[in-house]
Amino acid sequence: MAPTTQAHEITAASRLENVRYAIRDLACVADEVVKQGHKVLPLNVGDPLNFDFQTPPHIIEAVYKAMRDGKNGYAPSPGIPEALEAIRGEAARKGITTVQDVFVTSGVSETVDLCISALVNPGEDLLTPSPDYPLYSAVLCKLGIGLNAYDLNEEDGWQPELADIERKLTPRTRGIVIINPNNPTGSLCTRQMLEQVAELARRHNLIVFSDEIYDKLILEDTPHLAFAAVAPDVPCITFGGMSKNYLVPGWRIGWGIVSGDAAAVKTYTEGVHRLLRARLCANHPEQYSIKPALEGPQDHLVEVKRKLRSRRDLTQKWCESTPRVSCVAPRGAFYAYPRIEIPESDEIFVNELIRQKHVMVVHGSGFGQKPGTQHFRIVFLPDEQTLTKAYVGIAEFIRERYGK
Ligand SMILES: Cc1ncc(COP(=O)(O)O)c(C=O)c1O
Repeated sequence: MAPTTQAHEITAASRLENVRYAIRDLACVADEVVKQGHKVLPLNVGDPLNFDFQTPPHIIEAVYKAMRDGKNGYAPSPGIPEALEAIRGEAARKGITTVQDVFVTSGVSETVDLCISALVNPGEDLLTPSPDYPLYSAVLCKLGIGLNAYDLNEEDGWQPELADIERKLTPRTRGIVIINPNNPTGSLCTRQMLEQVAELARRHNLIVFSDEIYDKLILEDTPHLAFAAVAPDVPCITFGGMSKNYLVPGWRIGWGIVSGDAAAVKTYTEGVHRLLRARLCANHPEQYSIKPALEGPQDHLVEVKRKLRSRRDLTQKWCESTPRVSCVAPRGAFYAYPRIEIPESDEIFVNELIRQKHVMVVHGSGFGQKPGTQHFRIVFLPDEQTLTKAYVGIAEFIRERYGK
């Protein structure tokens, strides 16, 4: 019998049409440029290990030892007990007094996926910031949930715009996401803002997802404020992880801390645990790094923050002295989100910048922005020399393409 040939194209589900991840999608343009023999300056991906940052050796030892000790099978679905205990300790240090549950995931990425999937029914919605870290909209699109984004206000240091949140609330809104410190803007929520978001959550029976993955990378003297510490009664999942604070994004370890009124979060937390069981477990040996990371020496953070402050200052100075560019100074994490005044889209700007100057940043439309405004995101992780080279290239590009 003649072999049957596959005649039809296998299409992807249509709900994926709006799934975009601009940060990595740009890689295709960069690949072309590299094939032409150029070196690309990557100011696009927030991976400190691409630059002069090193993982604290004692946590590498802990994982190595776990592997040698045979911790290579499946772990318990919520995470290994010593990690869960260490995360509870960390929650207490963050001032969270109403912890109801903690669980370990494959990066904060999986926490985001599980927490949204366990919450939102078709026809309901979740308030997400605009601009936002694009995974939130990607997960919502994957689930077939319509986006409901609220604005961050550039004129107010990128604080959530309360009036816009009020406008966007619907009877079917189940929760609100805050990212603090923020990616892509580097902003920090003020105490007053957290209190106001808490008040909205109380009034509208919302759960708050507070993404605090950068909470140890604060570039100011003010301490980080955890939402759940400010609003202990409000149902909240605080997202935290190893990727950024402990310089191991490739290990894929994150966690969720459930807090708030015990009765209010009980059923939802059971839902999260169903999903935790269904996906078996997070990476097992890597979980042995959590306790030594959270409870051991934090010396690396001094060096990391020293470098980041210097690179942030250099970035800010460049933004302030470059025509057509302005920027709200970042206060945490390692991102700046400058605004540019140009007569074309920021997506064209970014694509042409890679092609002509071999500098890779990410366009504002990949994160969201108010109509009529254009931005790009800079990752200021590279050393001062590399950043200076990149900024000279961007300034030249702006001058040559748009004039002063
Ligand atoms: C705000 C935010 N949340 C979550 C993540 C995902 O982190 P993880 O590596 O823990 O999956 C990132 C990664 O860049 C991020 O910036």
